[in-house]
Amino acid sequence: MKKLLAANWKSHKTADQTQAFFNKLTEENISFSQTELVICPSYPSLSIAARIRAEKQLSLSLGGQNVSAFPEGAYTGEVAATQLAEFAEYVIIGHSERRRYFGETDEILAEKVKQAIEANLKVILCVQDEQDPIFNGVDAVAFEPVSAIGTGNPDDPDHVAQVLQRLYEKNSAVRLLYGGSVTPDTISPYLDLVHLNGFLVGGASLEADTFLSLAQLCDTQNLS
Ligand code: PGA
Repeated sequence: MKKLLAANWKSHKTADQTQAFFNKLTEENISFSQTELVICPSYPSLSIAARIRAEKQLSLSLGGQNVSAFPEGAYTGEVAATQLAEFAEYVIIGHSERRRYFGETDEILAEKVKQAIEANLKVILCVQDEQDPIFNGVDAVAFEPVSAIGTGNPDDPDHVAQVLQRLYEKNSAVRLLYGGSVTPDTISPYLDLVHLNGFLVGGASLEADTFLSLAQLCDTQNLS
């Protein structure tokens, strides 16, 4: 099973900044044998990224950070899964910022997952712990404790190991990721964790050099 290194850009990067990031990736050798890179830009940047990927034949995946709980139709401001699937292979669903600032409940998330899977998108589902439901058909589950997101204080690796174990017992078929203040300086204690198949990275994914350093570290380590 390949590892996943997913970049969650959140509401960052203009069109020009997106172009610059992808130009940088084009200059570097981004072929990693063990690791799949997934870049999740904002919607406008996603179409730019998809165009550059096609032009430069970059070997990476693209993802959305959110998707509508509804199909295509009269839902102002929403992007349906079928529309997203024109540009992306993945979608992040249930990020704690979506749950917290946009009131996304388990019921809404279940609908989003259903729409995404019907559109053949692979779902990266974010959870707070093993109590959160893991919806059928998701591709990866990212354990992302709120206290670690964007704080510079990644979760204690022993605690991450315990939660991963419980998530694995709940569902051994999905890839398990960790997210929360992962940087090239903080990543090493997690690289050896049993059941860990990759990372979801926010802040440290915004600079191409830093993101590529993370990819290198993942690729040379034997994640389970
Ligand atoms: P961070 O964000 O890497 O900036 O902590 C992770 C996330 O929110 O997915």
